[in-house]
Amino acid sequence: MLHLFDRPRRNRKSSWVRAMARETHLSADHFIYPLFIHDGVGNVPIQSMPGCSRLDLDGLMTEVEGALNDGVGAIVLFPAVDESLKSSLGEESYNPEGLVPRAIRRLKAKWPTLTVVTDVALDPYSSDGHDGIVSPYGRVLNDETVAVLAKQAVCQAEAGADIISPSDMMDGRVGAIREALDAAGYTEVSILAYTAKYASAFYGPFRDALDSAPRFGDKKTYQMDPANVREAMREVAADEAEGADMVMVKPAGPFLDVIRAVRESTPLPVAAYQVSGEYAMLKAAALNGWLDEKKVVLESLTGIRRAGADVILTYYARQAARWLRNG
Ligand code: PBG
Repeated sequence: MLHLFDRPRRNRKSSWVRAMARETHLSADHFIYPLFIHDGVGNVPIQSMPGCSRLDLDGLMTEVEGALNDGVGAIVLFPAVDESLKSSLGEESYNPEGLVPRAIRRLKAKWPTLTVVTDVALDPYSSDGHDGIVSPYGRVLNDETVAVLAKQAVCQAEAGADIISPSDMMDGRVGAIREALDAAGYTEVSILAYTAKYASAFYGPFRDALDSAPRFGDKKTYQMDPANVREAMREVAADEAEGADMVMVKPAGPFLDVIRAVRESTPLPVAAYQVSGEYAMLKAAALNGWLDEKKVVLESLTGIRRAGADVILTYYARQAARWLRNG
């Protein structure tokens, strides 16, 4: 019979052939697992993120041990800071006895090779709930904030952080942090910059988890407009020039085209953050029995990888690692 059309189905005919033809691979090597910690006693479940809790430091140790057993070797810490320690200048962010430095020291004492990523921004420490210092007129001040972020980064490096991850979106913070780290002798501590971080409503559950929602206004004067992609290229160029080791796009699912564009504009590794709201959507549908959780989660993570992400920050890291291992 004359063949007048192509037959792509031949490359799908069995699981072995499909495996040979597969273009994108997903494994626990690509995951960073975000964890919420607090100074209270016990683990407190987060309402809008079923399966996630604010962990106390013992709970953190248990969770990290579980993650390592599942094959996840990188975590990022987010602190829920007691209201009484919050201030307009966010001084608690660089307290060497603060929650994050104490957590890092405990983790590193037990697992020196665990990759500990830390978030740099003022929102958990700010009485205004903003990522930076707010002026009396309600502006988030750029350069004053950057000076505090540099101190926060050095404090985290001192405690043993491997990768410092500024999520604040101030201009020039990557360069200032790089300079401060180098001046303090931390030339080997890396910077994973939140490069294209959008002013997204998908962060809602995270802000519930940390009690860190802005007390007034929104974050649109520093986080990016979700309508923009060319602007992300400017951010990539700046972060690269200032010394970022890796760049990030956040959120992930609704911004796959941005991940692709960033991938094509830089040789640096690209990370993408499947944020709290993306987790909440998948989890809610799964708990209602409306979607097959394992299949949709692996599909969404594969989509993020296919778009060009090397690394994925995901609350599903442990579960996905187990699914990938056990089928
Ligand atoms: C704070 C920060 C946020 C997230 C990570 N770091 C929230 C925000 O910018 O308001 C969001 C993560 C998530 O939603 O999972 N700088």
